[in-house]
Amino acid sequence: MMDRILEPELMDDPKQADAYARADFAEENQGFVERFKDYFPEFSQGRVLDLGCGPADIPIRFATLYPACHIIGVDASAPMIQLGEQAVKQAGLADRITLRCERYEEVAGARIVDAVMSNSLLHHLPNPLQFWQKLRQLVKPGSPVLVMDLLRPDSPEAAQAIVDQYAANEPDILRRDFYNSLLAAFTEDEIGSQLARMNLTRLLIDIPDDRHWVVGGIVY
Ligand SMILES: C[S@@+](CC[C@H](N)C(=O)[O-])C[C@H]1O[C@@H](n2cnc3c(N)ncnc32)[C@H](O)[C@@H]1O
Repeated sequence: MMDRILEPELMDDPKQADAYARADFAEENQGFVERFKDYFPEFSQGRVLDLGCGPADIPIRFATLYPACHIIGVDASAPMIQLGEQAVKQAGLADRITLRCERYEEVAGARIVDAVMSNSLLHHLPNPLQFWQKLRQLVKPGSPVLVMDLLRPDSPEAAQAIVDQYAANEPDILRRDFYNSLLAAFTEDEIGSQLARMNLTRLLIDIPDDRHWVVGGIVY
């Protein structure tokens, strides 16, 4: 089993942010918001936080699916937030999506939102336990959370094979980021022990395909 190799935490190179925003994550991101709906059929309204929201594609899809929700997207990369602001305006959702250029660790307050979601942030973080702790602090007890990210493959060769299979025709910068992200990602066992250490074992881990894990459930 290969050890985790950290990649730079923020995606704050404008070219990198641009390539990411242009990439087609429609299927993955729509799948994420629909999974939220499947997991939490009762949920319909309130303030929803997206940690590491990037160019805001998920907040836009979420706001479209949930007309009674206000989404707050947080990302510490200025270029990502700029791209996100443009996309939100273009989608006509500026009244229901607020984006903030801020580190997730610095989001102030406790029990301030009715749900938390996060896609593809955790593998960027040197300290994943801090993420789970913050998530629990921010959400009101009894609220849904959905967190998804990449799974670390067994070897660099396996990571390269995944990049070749799923991003064969993408620009080099995106293929490089995808490869580095796979090496920086966590295994299912690592996620399981993070949840155990944070007393979050009510959250369930699912492995929906060969390169992702999903953690979802109600946080009390
Ligand atoms: C791979 S992108 C995922 C974006 C989005 N969630 C999506 O699924 O399309 C990860 C994002 O997390 C941001 N990020 C990394 N560390 C962060 C931190 N400590 N606080 C806030 N954002 C962070 C990066 O700048 C980047 O935009």
